[in-house]
Amino acid sequence: MSYKRFEQNVIYLDQVDSTNDYLLALSKESKLPNGTSLVAHHQSKGKGQRLATWTTQAGKNLTCSTIFYPTLQIQAAFCLNMCASLAVQNVLQDLGIRAQIKWPNDILVDGKKICGILVENSVQGKSIAQSIIGIGLNINQTDFEGTFKATSISAELGEKIDVNEIHQQLLAYLDFWLDWMEQKNFRMIEQRYLKHLYQLNEKHEYQDQNGRFEGEIVGLSESGLLKMKTDAGMRLFDIKDVKYL
Ligand code: BTN
Repeated sequence: MSYKRFEQNVIYLDQVDSTNDYLLALSKESKLPNGTSLVAHHQSKGKGQRLATWTTQAGKNLTCSTIFYPTLQIQAAFCLNMCASLAVQNVLQDLGIRAQIKWPNDILVDGKKICGILVENSVQGKSIAQSIIGIGLNINQTDFEGTFKATSISAELGEKIDVNEIHQQLLAYLDFWLDWMEQKNFRMIEQRYLKHLYQLNEKHEYQDQNGRFEGEIVGLSESGLLKMKTDAGMRLFDIKDVKYL
């Protein structure tokens, strides 16, 4: 496979605490090639967004982190989340699975979560010097006891799927979108992201620190905050400030 930005460097490990943390530690020892991707058979302390944990059955799903050194100003950092979300959406679309992106970067199929993404950036001055893009994609796990509304590729298609093949496809799409980002195609990336955005231009119930309210997602701010039309006017939300009901 030939990439535009990535080099061929995949590290497979049997068990790590978190692929994001392990890759970050490796990157501190020596500079890793752009696009180095770490795949773990099992994660003992997978991290989710907002300090949540990410738990999956060993060997069944894709848990990977990929490092990228972008040329990107801090205020455009959300583009990395959009690129990762679009890459996962593309992989699923190729399999005939219609997935949507729930802001900022959960991937849903019929309202059920199939993938979580955790992007962790290192900042230098006004730029993002390094980004670790962690992706947890449910592939062959079919029982999600105790997990609220989750699904996997296998549950959607009714067949067993090769985790490494999915990882290869994911890397190809990530490379594609990050290349677009490096070419400063921010508007086009945002348009593609909005095309797949869950609940865009629909009225739904949400919750903030003051309680429930009705809102309509209409887009994103320059920095990637969620823009919502509400009875109180146009409002912007950060991830910790709004809950989907
Ligand atoms: C979320 O939905 O809350 C984000 C979950 C992100 C999970 C992935 S699994 C691979 C990578 N390593 C981690 O520790 N977390 C991410």
